Amino acid sequence: MKIDVPSTEPDRRRQSLPVLPHDASPLRDRHARRVTYLRVSLTDRCNYRCAYCMPAEGWGISPKADLLSESELVELVTIFIGQGVRRVRLTGGEPLVRRGVVTLVERLASLRGLDELVMTTNGHLLPEFALPLKASGLSGLNVSLDSLSAERFRRLTRGGDLDVVLSGLRAADAAGFRGTKLNAVVVRGENDDELPELCEFAWREGYLPRFIELMPIGRLDFATQAHVVGTNEMLARVRERYHLLPDGDVCGGTPRGPARYWTVGEGKWAGRRLGFISPMSDDGFCASCNRARLTSHGGFRPCLGSDDEVSLRDALRGGATREALLDLVRGAVAGKRAAHNMHDDAGTPRDAMTGIGG
Ligand code: 5AD
Ligand code: SF4
Repeated sequence: MKIDVPSTEPDRRRQSLPVLPHDASPLRDRHARRVTYLRVSLTDRCNYRCAYCMPAEGWGISPKADLLSESELVELVTIFIGQGVRRVRLTGGEPLVRRGVVTLVERLASLRGLDELVMTTNGHLLPEFALPLKASGLSGLNVSLDSLSAERFRRLTRGGDLDVVLSGLRAADAAGFRGTKLNAVVVRGENDDELPELCEFAWREGYLPRFIELMPIGRLDFATQAHVVGTNEMLARVRERYHLLPDGDVCGGTPRGPARYWTVGEGKWAGRRLGFISPMSDDGFCASCNRARLTSHGGFRPCLGSDDEVSLRDALRGGATREALLDLVRGAVAGKRAAHNMHDDAGTPRDAMTGIGG
């Protein structure tokens, strides 16, 4: 096993940290799960207002001082890398509305020990940002695309422009992004009849379609238990059209993330894949969780399905040593719950998704 040695470059506090091998991560909870994947929200603002993510009236703009600064973000991510985190996903809100996002990506991408720096975006700003992001070292993109009907898309995103997002996808291709994933949150009565169309669009254009079970988070218009469509029902709909074979639990040589993949067995689309992310119906979803979140306000959340949070920003600004910050993180990870409780309205987080980081 290869263990990186610390860099000797002077005056860079972060570079004095040894990088731990993946399976020695001390960020281990009571259920023997390790945190190796950090989702980092760059902002709680968004240029869209998806009805399952944001309140209709929008989300108050946080004073800049409440958000982690670029240096604070880099500092915290560096600490996590030192603790075995290997993958970082930048999210929001919409990460691309954060001022200086390209410089930030550049700084994060150059951190030693990080295998993958990826981003989830609504795609609206990709026509402008795809190229600079690629040049800055971002390794991959997930783009949210809930419908191929401009009208539906506008309704679900409360004003989003499908054509702009489609140009954004083309810009990402042209910039050299490969294996882009298209994520659709499936909402009963809104887009649950569109799965085959979304698949065929993705397959034709070379993307990987994935369908996400709606999480009833934040008490929003389109985020109630009644809007949830379970994966079995989604699968049944897709199977009316295609013969599907389950992929193994290993995807591309690495242990699977939260998605389960299927491959079309025969016909025109034979060999094409699709995935389901099933936080609501997959009993093993939480058991294999390797994720934690850093909110744009510097809150560390070990579980998306809970409001449990510890403020690393406040600790950092209060002059906490690296060891003290680590104690906070380790304590939060140790207390990570075994499973979320989003089947019960009383058990869902109070904060809307945009405030947490999708
Ligand atoms: N349930 C499931 N997914 C959600 N997202 C936002 N809100 C929800 C929700 N309530 C997803 C978006 C996007 C990512 C940022 O989070 O679709 O893919
Ligand atoms: Fe914005 Fe994404 Fe939330 Fe939609 S789901 S409002 S695009 S952060």
